[in-house]
Amino acid sequence: MKSIHIQSESDYQNAVAKWKKSPDDFWADIANAYTWLKPWNKVVEADFPKADFKWFLGGKLNITLNALDRHVEAHPDKTAILWEPNNPKDPHLEISYKDLLKRVSKMAHAMKAQGIEKGDRVCLYMPMIPELAVAVLACARIGAVHSVVFAGFSAQSLADRIQDSHCKLVITSDELKRGGKIVGIKNIVDQALESCPSVTSVLVAQSTGASIPMQNGRDHWLEEVQKNQADFIEAEEMDSEDPLFILYTSGSTGKPKGVVHTCGGYMVYAGYSFLNVFQVGKEDVYWCTADIGWITGHTYIVYGPLLAGATTTMFEGVPTWPDAGRFWAICEKHKINQFYTAPTAIRALMAKGDEFVDAYPLKDLKVIGSVGEPINEEAWVWYHEKVGKKNCPVVDTWWQTETGGIMISALGDVGPQKPTFAGRPLPGVDPILVDNEGNLIEENNQEGLLCIRSPWPSMIRTTYGDHQRCINTYFSAYKGYYFTGDGAKRDADGHYRIIGRVDDVINVSGHRFGTAEIENAIDEHPEVVESAVVGFPHDIKGQGIYAYVILSKKPENQERLREEIQSELVKAIGPIAKPDAIQFVSGLPKTRSGKIMRRILRKVASGESDQLGDTSTLLDPEVVEEIISGSKHFVS
Ligand code: PRX
Repeated sequence: MKSIHIQSESDYQNAVAKWKKSPDDFWADIANAYTWLKPWNKVVEADFPKADFKWFLGGKLNITLNALDRHVEAHPDKTAILWEPNNPKDPHLEISYKDLLKRVSKMAHAMKAQGIEKGDRVCLYMPMIPELAVAVLACARIGAVHSVVFAGFSAQSLADRIQDSHCKLVITSDELKRGGKIVGIKNIVDQALESCPSVTSVLVAQSTGASIPMQNGRDHWLEEVQKNQADFIEAEEMDSEDPLFILYTSGSTGKPKGVVHTCGGYMVYAGYSFLNVFQVGKEDVYWCTADIGWITGHTYIVYGPLLAGATTTMFEGVPTWPDAGRFWAICEKHKINQFYTAPTAIRALMAKGDEFVDAYPLKDLKVIGSVGEPINEEAWVWYHEKVGKKNCPVVDTWWQTETGGIMISALGDVGPQKPTFAGRPLPGVDPILVDNEGNLIEENNQEGLLCIRSPWPSMIRTTYGDHQRCINTYFSAYKGYYFTGDGAKRDADGHYRIIGRVDDVINVSGHRFGTAEIENAIDEHPEVVESAVVGFPHDIKGQGIYAYVILSKKPENQERLREEIQSELVKAIGPIAKPDAIQFVSGLPKTRSGKIMRRILRKVASGESDQLGDTSTLLDPEVVEEIISGSKHFVS
């Protein structure tokens, strides 16, 4: 892919100048590096207040022609996916571009055999096995819309997501391996499907080979359905603005929403951002440790690297099993050149001791990346010194499910290396800071709310089934801009530091939760009258979950009740949503109009109850005293 490749400071400046002169020409040049079945006739149409965005209008394409066929022609035997299994004693797999296209074609035929057609939604609830990447691409190949649900979510969460987008088919596996644990995920699918009438078939991949119940007529072994299928399938012709996928993410209110990305713009931006941020050379081996269940896995395990014709690594296991050196052992084994992970993993491994990383020279690493949450200085320095051995630039990449691709980051070693600063926008990205009233903050060295002023190709198109929600959430707060929900600081040189969410979203180990969805789950417990949830600083997870809970009667056994509330959350969302602290209170700090003052709860949870600020508008100030005195036992 030729695209625009930025390899020096002057390349960066030239690209920015080119974009400022003519955004259309800038994006057209990037898009021209791809194969189109029919060229587009207009680069972009954008209406911010209506959240109506169209890119590469009239263009026809299939993203898999660019991610697979093009490379099958140019370098058929190059490894496309390098798969490392959960257990280091099991063999790894190297899937060439040629083989990947065959696997994708067979899977696509298998999906068609279940009646799946262009536009149908397919839910993927799978471990990090090659079949997951293959299923993603097979959907794209036939124009089905994939909705990947992270396989740590509960049956209830899975059902919510399947129902919201009326999926017809679910692809899953018998079981899932995660370190020393086995999870029966087909079981979870069975539970979820009790309330999902839209699903007519389930394809089950074999991961552990366990014998599991299969529902007659509905469930089929993937292997069997694929066996006699042809190993090529024509790519469906897609319009630039046809949906490519839905990915659910949490916001401040209501249930998680399905963020919709479309074929043309997403393809263009995924390839462009991958190429420039990671600077992956022809012979390089790239590894992103995310799960494909999150946007990072979509864009930077599957689509971005494959669009660029790179070798992308997929890891089934966890960083701490069999020991805390697993990541580094894999880097060494596969001579990884670009490594991309999350601050929470860095902090967790840092806490295990340097000996695990010091044991590996990691000489092949060239670029190391971070994503998902702010990286604190200590973790940044450790990552740079211990993993990068002071030789690799750290790309601290800021972006979101909604942005589709990396928006602010250094580009390899182009751009500042300033711990805790994500840096400058990618050329073509137009971040701004505004104050609470939406006034533009033009000076540097200021903090504000991070918005994006110009459209970019991989921006969210809608929230599935409810466009008004998309308008309300992202395009209404500050007219004419996309509002990110993050606060940020811009330094004297125009580099951005992301401070964190300014809305009721908590970022726990890089996973987004809305406080409302956690509260709703807690309120399901029969003895709970009301709850309020806030985030607080956590050494490993970045933020922890702190729940204040009002009960209908004095509990006989507080510990048991805490466990029951935890189980409600595991049931409603999944183990990743377990609170770190649950405090029983007799009331919550509310204003006279009945609004919970979360600011106070946040301060108490963070151990800053001496900085509560003005509490004079509270209905019942005494409740604050009680909360402060009861809080001490829960947060260290
Ligand atoms: O708060 C920001 C934080 O993660 C949020 C987006 O979460 P999600 O949609 O799940 O996507 C995560 C992976 C792209 C943002 O609103 N965030 C993401 N990257 C960074 C970050 N915060 C600080 N620094 C980052 N590099």
